[in-house]
Amino acid sequence: MCQQCSRSSHDSARMKTIKKWFKRTDLVAEGENWIGGLFTIALIVLLIQTYVFANNFVFQYPAASVGSSNFACDVTLRNALFDTSLKSLAIPPSSEEQDMFDLLNDQQWTLHVNLINTAINCSSISPYEIIGTSSIALSLVTCKSVDSVVKTTIVFSNHVEQLQIVLNDINVIGNIAVGLTGLGSTAGSKSAQQINFIQAFYNTNETLVQSIPITLQLIMVS
Ligand SMILES: *[C@@H]1O[C@H](CO)[C@@H](O)[C@H](O)[C@H]1NC(C)=O
Ligand SMILES: *[C@@H]1O[C@H](CO)[C@@H](O)[C@H](O)[C@H]1NC(C)=O
Repeated sequence: MCQQCSRSSHDSARMKTIKKWFKRTDLVAEGENWIGGLFTIALIVLLIQTYVFANNFVFQYPAASVGSSNFACDVTLRNALFDTSLKSLAIPPSSEEQDMFDLLNDQQWTLHVNLINTAINCSSISPYEIIGTSSIALSLVTCKSVDSVVKTTIVFSNHVEQLQIVLNDINVIGNIAVGLTGLGSTAGSKSAQQINFIQAFYNTNETLVQSIPITLQLIMVS
């Protein structure tokens, strides 16, 4: 009985110490209430956890080359938002989007075909446009031959076109580079960015085959 008495007084003394300690750490209610101290500690723990999580999450990038997210409950968590605004062509664009598509549709494209490491000269290059089973002779807009590199340009009359470039020559070609350029344009708050890319096609130490089909496919992104 007495032992219990002393024990409970001992316990209440310990409780008082804990409450006092909590009051001291209280930043929420400025030391008036011991529960405020408990909240302060909880708040600090929460902030530290948030910081540690945010820090680990930031370094889970890029999503393709990082390991498991062991810091989170869900280890498959990635710092990436898999979202796309690509739409099916079957869905007609809204009037606002149509302005953007008009800008892109009106963009004039120039095809660049560069023949590298060759003795072919410009007079043996003839471009054709293929329409169905017939072909119409086109003319090169420019053709320059400098240091075994023949640079040609053709202007597209349409965005969907099949062109054939016939090289009436027996000389070989080491490398072919095909590119597309188009000027940017602006209408109101919308602007189409300029196109400017070129890609080389070659096999190391080998010349090109006699017939090379190349398909260029562009995706409109607004
Ligand atoms: C181009 O090549 C043809 C045939 O190989 C040749 O007759 C002609 O003189 C060449 N033209 C130029 C500008 O080198
Ligand atoms: C190309 O030729 C060089 C010299 O003969 C040779 O050292 C190299 O390995 C070859 N590269 C390929 C990809 O065949």
